[in-house]
Amino acid sequence: MDPFVFQNPTKLIFGKGQNETLAKEVVKYGKNVLLVYGGGSIKRNGLYEFVISQLKQADVNVTELAGVEPNPRLTTVQKGIGLCREHNIDLVLAVGGGSVIDAAKAIVVGAKFEGDIWDVITRKAQPNDALPLGTILTLAATGSEMNAGSVITNWEINEKLGWGSPYSFPKFSILDPKNTISVPEDQTVYGMVDMMSHVIEAYFHKAENTPLQDRIMESILLTVMETAPKLLEDLENEDLRETILYCGTMALNGITQMGLRGDWATHNIEHAVSAVYDIPHAGGLAILFPHWMRHTLDERISRHVQLATRVLGVDSTGKSDEEIALEGIEKLSAFWTTLGAPNRLADYDIDSSQVDRMAELASNRGAFGNFKALTKEDVSKILTAAL
Ligand code: NZQ
Ligand code: ZN
Repeated sequence: MDPFVFQNPTKLIFGKGQNETLAKEVVKYGKNVLLVYGGGSIKRNGLYEFVISQLKQADVNVTELAGVEPNPRLTTVQKGIGLCREHNIDLVLAVGGGSVIDAAKAIVVGAKFEGDIWDVITRKAQPNDALPLGTILTLAATGSEMNAGSVITNWEINEKLGWGSPYSFPKFSILDPKNTISVPEDQTVYGMVDMMSHVIEAYFHKAENTPLQDRIMESILLTVMETAPKLLEDLENEDLRETILYCGTMALNGITQMGLRGDWATHNIEHAVSAVYDIPHAGGLAILFPHWMRHTLDERISRHVQLATRVLGVDSTGKSDEEIALEGIEKLSAFWTTLGAPNRLADYDIDSSQVDRMAELASNRGAFGNFKALTKEDVSKILTAAL
């Protein structure tokens, strides 16, 4: 494995009943709170009212930023930064899924940054401070609740970019499975595809001697695969929600990637697709991942074989490495399709007309992908195969 340093400063407050700890956490940070949330799911499921009651108990002044979009936009982030400055905000509290938390990360960093936050997101500038961020996660998917990553879309120029800094970790995140019970079936599926994709991105690495990392990753994948069909039959089952919630966090809080570098090209390509078509992130991943895997069979096939045999249930007897790997890819794709995820870009009415543009957007900062470096031509091939 590669030498590594691991530091994750987020206080994870996990489990049934943990919503009740909110007021106790909030009082530690000051008097003025910016409450950030999405398009209204927290109003429909009663969480908004609960949060407001806790904030009253904490005796803080509350300013609100509502309406953060799925695939959150730069304009919303800028609005949030303005509110922080205007109301002298001491703590930003994000209540929602990955989009709300990602927007809040850019807001806390932007509020303490002199220049344009887009320069931070495009990595032209480095932040050196941030307001404290607390989160209540309502959708198990991105892992944003316990990592530094954030993905923001500049819709005017169709750029969707991931960024992160040591200052963008949440200070605390409350994960109460109750908050995820109202997630509809399609978003539940997307969430499980997303967390599996995070593990698979990390699984395709080139480091040697990673037996524990591999087993940790395989455990997360197997747990999601065992739990997913049961949860889809019983969406209100709090125990199953709890298991998936924990899997989502463990899939991308840094633990799987100690001592190795995952590939991450598929995420980059998906971000280009959703920058042009505004589709759900994991819908794009379910479509693209099998094609990325077929495209990379010539690169360290032992990783493909290990995933196929240890996780995807492929019997290797009498088969070549390529046959095993291909069968594994078929099984992964079939599993996601059975859950209800899309498997062709056509499922989102995406045709060949913007393939060149998406390939250009994905590769405009040069070749990318740590397991296999992809050029614009590679991306075009993957997208075309996925049509
Ligand atoms: O906006 P509201 O009304 O809250 O509704 C949301 C939204 O429509 C709804 N929802 C969330 N919690 C709910 C709920 N509906 C009912 N009950 C609940 N409890 O679900 C919809 C999708 O929400 P969103 O936050 O967009 O989903 P997700 O958590 O999948 O986040 C997706 C975003 O995260 C980025 C993606 O690219 C995308 O922009 N990612 C962030 C990462 C990170 N920060 O580490 C890594 C990921 O790979 C990903 O790229
Ligand atoms: Zn993802």
